[in-house]
Amino acid sequence: MENDEHDGRAAWLGLAGSVCVVTGGGSGIGAATALELARCGALVAVLDRDGRAADAVADAIACAGGRAMSVQADVTSEDAIAAAAQRIQHELGSSRILVNSAALVGYAGPLMHADLAQWNRMLDVNLTGALLCIRAFGAQMISAGAGGSIVNVASICGHLPLPESGAYSVGKAGLLMLSRMLALELARHGIRCNSVSPGLVRTPATEAAYIDDTVAAGRSRLVPSGRIAEPTELASVIAFLGSERAAYINGQDILVDGGLSQALMSLVPKPATSTDAFTRK
Ligand SMILES: NC(=O)c1ccc[n+]([C@@H]2O[C@H](COP(=O)([O-])OP(=O)(O)OC[C@H]3O[C@@H](n4cnc5c(N)ncnc54)[C@H](O)[C@@H]3O)[C@@H](O)[C@H]2O)c1
Repeated sequence: MENDEHDGRAAWLGLAGSVCVVTGGGSGIGAATALELARCGALVAVLDRDGRAADAVADAIACAGGRAMSVQADVTSEDAIAAAAQRIQHELGSSRILVNSAALVGYAGPLMHADLAQWNRMLDVNLTGALLCIRAFGAQMISAGAGGSIVNVASICGHLPLPESGAYSVGKAGLLMLSRMLALELARHGIRCNSVSPGLVRTPATEAAYIDDTVAAGRSRLVPSGRIAEPTELASVIAFLGSERAAYINGQDILVDGGLSQALMSLVPKPATSTDAFTRK
């Protein structure tokens, strides 16, 4: 759509005409993914509880010459997701790719005092919501009999504990296991289930952390790649996992974090003198 290089990549992924559903598609990583899939020729359903945000992304896709529809639905409502799945099937066809990006992000204070209603709501959206969407759209994939691909957006925080984040790390760790279990349960239908775990990404959800230049610079310094990710850098990995180019990748998680999760040992203080300091004589 935009330039030759992108057209080449889009063709390589072979996503043209595939029906893709992106939850949380109205913002951040979900929005970037919806746009990327549409650029690759996919028919995209932008699903979000924020209907206006979903409309805006679907409009942007249409303006760029792609095909999309917006669906306002809360992933925690089984009825709303069942109705959304029916509408999408009617308007675009059976879904082939599902990207679960919808989530609540934020700090909730120490676990000993975290509000229980907030805890439950976060698990409902970030973990149960993903399962409800997988059931609804996975059923379409099974009936269509043409296989499919599910990509769950987990987090580095599902691998490494983020203190005071309430149910966030717990829910993301659960989502990683959910993905691996479904990879096994759905494989006989030709449906793959994988996840991506973003590190630090600048999105509307995390914008507050980047307003203060000192905090932003401190965060960038921690990342071996030296910078915070753009949502598009997640979108391209998600599109790849969704595509048949990743046909033999199943039950895997890809950490897209600029090396952050590998950086612990590089933070250990070293003596100023040479390596002789470690050599016993
Ligand atoms: N931004 C980061 O640094 C980062 C890091 C690791 C993982 N992630 C994960 O990436 C995903 C996207 O995060 P983001 O930063 O783009 O966030 P974001 O807030 O920009 O986008 C999330 C979208 O999900 C929607 N949503 C929330 N609850 C919903 C519900 N119940 N039903 C339907 N839609 C709902 C929101 O309306 C919003 O449009 C999340 O799963 C998040 O946990 C983000």
